[in-house]
Amino acid sequence: MNIILLGFMGTGKTSVGKKLSGKLSMHYIDTDEMIEKEVKLEIWRIFAEFGEQYFREIEKKAIEKVSKLDNYVISTGGGMVLFEENIKNLKKHGKLICLTASPEEIYKRIEKETHRPLLKTPDAKTKIRELLKLRAPLYAKADHIIDTTNLNVDEVVEKIEKLIR
Ligand code: S3P
Repeated sequence: MNIILLGFMGTGKTSVGKKLSGKLSMHYIDTDEMIEKEVKLEIWRIFAEFGEQYFREIEKKAIEKVSKLDNYVISTGGGMVLFEENIKNLKKHGKLICLTASPEEIYKRIEKETHRPLLKTPDAKTKIRELLKLRAPLYAKADHIIDTTNLNVDEVVEKIEKLIR
């Protein structure tokens, strides 16, 4: 069994995933990190040099690989849900937990970061709203959804522990 964290950028998948894996004595893996190691380029560089479509293809392969693991907490990239096959693969051996947050809170959390190619735009607030709207039905396919807007990392971890008990 794996626990898969999905959800929009800035909802806390990485920090929650790391903490949760420690508490549950499970392994931890992040598909974005995996891709960066494989391609030997940061995600924003992969987008810039090869385009989003290329990234999505490598992401699909990474998801297929991690789906076969066992006893892992897996953090996934925010756009993984765009492909039905990714969700199907991950569901085979895992519980899908989606982290959400309000667009305002997401903006606050990512405002000072520069490594997210899709939000490298003059109007990141509008972009966040648009992408969230588009992806909402896809994120809803998770087994559980946790709104992290007013929660810290420990509180989210606690909620997940309760859900999977
Ligand atoms: C993306 C989210 C990013 C990363 C890439 C695309 C997206 O991951 O995979 O920049 O489409 O939402 P995080 O959600 O970990 O930031």
